[in-house]
Amino acid sequence: MSDGFSLADALSAGNNPNPSAPQPQGWPSWGNQPPPPGGFPAYPPPPGAYPGAPGPYPGPHPGPPGPYPGGPPGHGPYPGAPTGPGPYTAPGQPPSGPGFGPPHPQGGPAPPMKVPFELHLQAGLAPRMLITITGSINPNPTRFSLDFKKGNDIAFHFNPRFSENNRKVIVCNSMFHNNWGKEERTAPRFPFEAGKPFKLQILCEADHFKVAVNDAHLLQYSFREKRLNEITKLCIAGDITLTSVMPTMI
Ligand code: GAL
Repeated sequence: MSDGFSLADALSAGNNPNPSAPQPQGWPSWGNQPPPPGGFPAYPPPPGAYPGAPGPYPGPHPGPPGPYPGGPPGHGPYPGAPTGPGPYTAPGQPPSGPGFGPPHPQGGPAPPMKVPFELHLQAGLAPRMLITITGSINPNPTRFSLDFKKGNDIAFHFNPRFSENNRKVIVCNSMFHNNWGKEERTAPRFPFEAGKPFKLQILCEADHFKVAVNDAHLLQYSFREKRLNEITKLCIAGDITLTSVMPTMI
């Protein structure tokens, strides 16, 4: 496999405080345990394909992420998912289900979604909410960021930087009353590449966020803001092109 994710990586990452804890169904396996029955397929995925993708990935237009294969039957749009067209739909495109992005790739090339992009989460976040974002990194990127916001506060800032003193680094932080807190820079690798497509998943757990990129767990971030239902906005900005943003419950 190409990205070299391995058991050693998972064990040396040092950011899983409880590696024996069961991982939620629908979340990429850490690699140090069998996948849950009927759950997410064992990592690594088959060559050239994302599980559930309609065709080979990366492709010109991978399309919106479908439900996770083998996920529990009841999973789907989160409660209170927006239903009507919103500002987050690519121009000329109808919304495609609970998330936003182009319809099935058979419809032909879809225009990119607008960046900065804002997704309003009507009922806020909740444990087991999974947000799947697909897109690609622009050429010559400097940075991009996801901000989960409670009003003006940023509960979770996820910020890959492509050249900070000539180094690639992922910075996570929170901002309360306009003050940034202590940065967390513990990501064991930097999985984004200029010009390449990506799938980024943020899973809200009971007391932390998990982040996976291209179906491999990357890091977790403990909640500093615990009133999840008041975290009602996701802002995505920076040097990326967005294909889809899809909130689901797993
Ligand atoms: C600052 C930067 C912000 C944010 C923050 C995170 O230096 O200007 O955009 O990334 O770091 O700690």
